[in-house]
Amino acid sequence: IWLIMKVTVVGAGNVGASCAEYIAIKRIASEVILLDIKEGLAEGKALDLSQTSTTLGFDTRIIGITSDYSITSNSDVVVITSGIPRKPGMTREELIGINAGIVKDVSSNILKYSPNTIIVVVSNPMDTMTYLTLKITGLPKNKVIGMGGALDSSRFKTYLSKSINKPSSDIHAMVIGGHGDTTMIPLVRLASYNGLPVSEFLNKDEMDKVSKETMVGGASLTKLLGTSAWYAPGASVAYLVDSILNNQKKLIPCSVLLNGEYGQNDICIGVPCIIGSKGVESIVELKLNKDEFNLFNESSNSVRAMNESLKL
Ligand code: LAC
Repeated sequence: IWLIMKVTVVGAGNVGASCAEYIAIKRIASEVILLDIKEGLAEGKALDLSQTSTTLGFDTRIIGITSDYSITSNSDVVVITSGIPRKPGMTREELIGINAGIVKDVSSNILKYSPNTIIVVVSNPMDTMTYLTLKITGLPKNKVIGMGGALDSSRFKTYLSKSINKPSSDIHAMVIGGHGDTTMIPLVRLASYNGLPVSEFLNKDEMDKVSKETMVGGASLTKLLGTSAWYAPGASVAYLVDSILNNQKKLIPCSVLLNGEYGQNDICIGVPCIIGSKGVESIVELKLNKDEFNLFNESSNSVRAMNESLKL
């Protein structure tokens, strides 16, 4: 049987297009719908991407569409990347005014045609947009997943690999907390070089430097590019979508609704999750030390304050 796995990516900007590209190249889904409000943009990018299929060797159908959500019906996964990206000097939080309206609109349109879908939220400020999507759609909490931790962790691992000068594929590490320049928590204590603690290779100053670089990883790129990044965000979404569609049950830090876990309630924030065909299959409750727990509380307070400005 030919099993159709359908993914919709809303927003055909840099992140949305990269995400569609990696999903196709890695053959994660059989069909990708790219949707944008800008006339012709999604169609153009989808057509251009489709024309790479023979040279790169994939069969994923990529279809671009302007605003017609009926084409997205019965999507297994919908990725929301819509909204404005940050400009140099801006925080992700400053985008809330415009992006909240857009995400509200997009998530209700999505639900009309795919009432059983799993939604992956990428729009910033991501933790708050995930919370908003959950409230607007009324989907069960396992079906709304904020993508930030996978990206932040990939940046963390890359900086660690550079700092200890070892291959990045041998580095394992995780970032939890909010997806913000001051709310991210790179878990340096648990980071490893193939099972060996990175503290064997780095002194405290070096570890602090890596943490700092990780936290402002997105901001540094925004400064260089004049807009926010897309390759690593797109690849991180594809990685997450792969774990959902192929029921890989990978351990990925994601922004999900907490119900007492980590001492928090009624908030979406990054924690380690098992991701499979049900979406969030479970939350892994890690034993944080006192410092990490305090950082997690502070991070939660910032995200909660941001959620309050939604006036839901
Ligand atoms: C970043 C944006 C996508 O971190 O949040 O690059």
